[in-house]
Amino acid sequence: MDKLSDRIKRLGYSQTFVMSNKARDMKAAGIDVISLTLGEPDFDVPENIKKSALEAIEQNYSHYSPVPGFLELRQAISHKLKRDNQLDYKPTQICVSNGAKQAILNVLAAIINDGDEVILPVPYWVSYDEMVKMMGGKSIFIKTSYVNDFKITAEQLQEAITPKTKAILYSSPCNPSGSYYTYDELQSLAKVIAKNPQITVISDEIYEFINYETTTKSIAAFPEIYEQVAVINGMSKGYAMTGWRIGYSACPEWLAKACDKIQGQMTSGANTVAQRASITALNTDPSEYRYMIDEFKKRRDIVFELMKEIPNFKVLLPKSAFYFFPDVSYYIGKTLDGVEIKDSDDFAMFLLDKAHVGSVGGVSFGSPECVRFSYAASESELREAMRRIKECLEKYQQV
Ligand SMILES: Cc1ncc(COP(=O)(O)O)c(C=O)c1O
Repeated sequence: MDKLSDRIKRLGYSQTFVMSNKARDMKAAGIDVISLTLGEPDFDVPENIKKSALEAIEQNYSHYSPVPGFLELRQAISHKLKRDNQLDYKPTQICVSNGAKQAILNVLAAIINDGDEVILPVPYWVSYDEMVKMMGGKSIFIKTSYVNDFKITAEQLQEAITPKTKAILYSSPCNPSGSYYTYDELQSLAKVIAKNPQITVISDEIYEFINYETTTKSIAAFPEIYEQVAVINGMSKGYAMTGWRIGYSACPEWLAKACDKIQGQMTSGANTVAQRASITALNTDPSEYRYMIDEFKKRRDIVFELMKEIPNFKVLLPKSAFYFFPDVSYYIGKTLDGVEIKDSDDFAMFLLDKAHVGSVGGVSFGSPECVRFSYAASESELREAMRRIKECLEKYQQV
């Protein structure tokens, strides 16, 4: 008897975990693997944040918090959105969740009916398509490539919209491409969205601070669509707090209330100690944590120079986040050492087997011609990983 629901059968496993687990198994078997698979900062949580978590334990923050989070935390988020993004959100418009992941799910659960369409610019974060499926929706993909910096245009967006379009969901800065939308680009997308009031923009800004050029803009800053935007952010990436599981949404009141209602039935308020520590993090001047970004930038520049030397990788300098997403289409459709490379997942597996470097194939990001390398690793590991890949692929230049 098959006891599993149709919902669970629709879902796929995250390729990120498939590759990171395989890399871990190889390491456990004594193989010297360098894993560039995971999307999390390799820094420790900053001291003042840890201290405030310890104080919260001492002060017995051990009871349920309000479902959308402590008022002080929502005030700190409101203040942060004004300080860093020039956005006006009242605490009543904010819902604190178990990571940005839950914040996105809350919003999707609040607006998606069976068969509704959600536009996903490609490449997208692996979980987006699965989350849309979980909620009974249908993803509509807009393809991009390294040629256009992995970004969609207003014309492409317009073309993808149908009467069934309920939302557009993207990350800017983008995991996996490392691109972000500029003010002008967001403005032209906002014009299209304003003409389609049934659409909600789910703007995932979790990599906001990991940006090497300028500060990124939120699409919620365009007043004509403010009522149509759900801003998603959290503590995982900018504060190296992935395991503390604090994210949030900032939405129009009607949507914030719906998120609160869903979360109240699913998980209740997020971890109280992590919430208290997040207040400290958000009330600290972001420049205090800038050392992490400076380190990422240094590594990015090193990897870029080395990756350009790898045969037949078409690589852009990522402007934000901590990933490279080179186009490896040269290798797709070829047979390397008897291994058939049908797509970039096969290619990533080939690199793991032959060069002992873990990466994530682009299929689950919607880009079967690209591979994602995280550079949230030490400088020496990154140098060695690039050396191994180059040495491995030099053999196949003429295939
Ligand atoms: C684009 C994007 N959004 C959301 C998340 C999830 O963040 P959180 O740890 O806050 O759930 C990730 C994590 O990898 C991500 O890359």
